Amino acid sequence: MDDLQAQFDATIAADQRIEPRDWMPEGYRRTLIRQIAQHAHSEIIGMQPEGNWILRAPTLRRKAILLAKVQDEAGHGLYLYSAAETLGADRAELTELLLAGKQKYSSIFNYPTLSYADVGVIGWLVDGAAICNQVPLCRCSYGPYARAMIRICKEESFHQRQGYELLMAMMQGTDEQRAMVQESVNRWWWPSLMMFGPPDSDSPNTQQSMAWKIKRHSNDELRQRFVDMTVPQAEALGVTLPDPDLRWNPERGHYDFGEIDWSEFKAVLAGAGPCNAQRLAHRRRAHENGAWVREAAAAYAEKHARKQE
Ligand code: 3HC
Repeated sequence: MDDLQAQFDATIAADQRIEPRDWMPEGYRRTLIRQIAQHAHSEIIGMQPEGNWILRAPTLRRKAILLAKVQDEAGHGLYLYSAAETLGADRAELTELLLAGKQKYSSIFNYPTLSYADVGVIGWLVDGAAICNQVPLCRCSYGPYARAMIRICKEESFHQRQGYELLMAMMQGTDEQRAMVQESVNRWWWPSLMMFGPPDSDSPNTQQSMAWKIKRHSNDELRQRFVDMTVPQAEALGVTLPDPDLRWNPERGHYDFGEIDWSEFKAVLAGAGPCNAQRLAHRRRAHENGAWVREAAAAYAEKHARKQE
């Protein structure tokens, strides 16, 4: 065992990849299944907020873009469930854990999409935050997760750009459209900062995840990177971020920003967000309605396997 642990440690220290057939500490495997499964759940649940606007998109072009984006999120979920399966996880079991409330998905998807501007703001802020959080994961020590992230990040860039472009169009529109964008930014800004997780001082997983080079930066570091990246974009867009304490700090070389309402974060994680019940009920219905497809695929695979015998 000592040799195997030493070999694992040397691989991590040399910034090399751990692959599915390599020996790994049970805790490393468990942490990866936890994070990758919850990441996958987030992608699938994340289809709901924007899916809500596909039938109401104002033009065929916007409808086609939104359809492509929502379809991408489904694909991201499938890559990530496949990455979890390389660790011995069972996709059906992961879905059951999600539906039983025993595994999480990102807090951000428990907020409602109340106006069409939300489609642009989600692309700009939520996918922008996702990019900040996911680009470092391309250098994660676990091979299948890192490789899944490379393709996902390329598609996230499209998601972020289409959102920002949609908002640019609205900001060059009428006063009502500009007001709709500002109202949406006011609702999504703080929940987007919460996507990066609790403060480092309250993050039980960060230290070990960074030692294993699963996480390459801490929650607060990536949150700060997101704020620094987004403030100039907000200025270019002509919107005001809803934080009176937001200001450039030349000593730090970063933007200072106000205190996040961690009680709201904890409440959403505990299931008391605006849409938690709705999101899980929708996912449960979709899972039940899709049972016949899974059964048909299994029957076909079994028949096909018998033919090969
Ligand atoms: N929503 C829900 N749960 C959260 C959370 C959030 N925003 N932030 C943290 N948590 C949970 C963690 O899962 C952990 O609970 P657990 O131990 O039961 O899993 C607990 O709060 C403590 O947080 P930690 O910081 O200790 O946990 P992690 O080290 O796992 O860090 C994380 C949290 C930064 C989200 C990390 O898991 C991560 O980077 N995950 C991969 C990226 C991801 O999942 N992003 C979610 C959004 S997906 C998305 O944006 C799709 C895009 O297309 C829009």
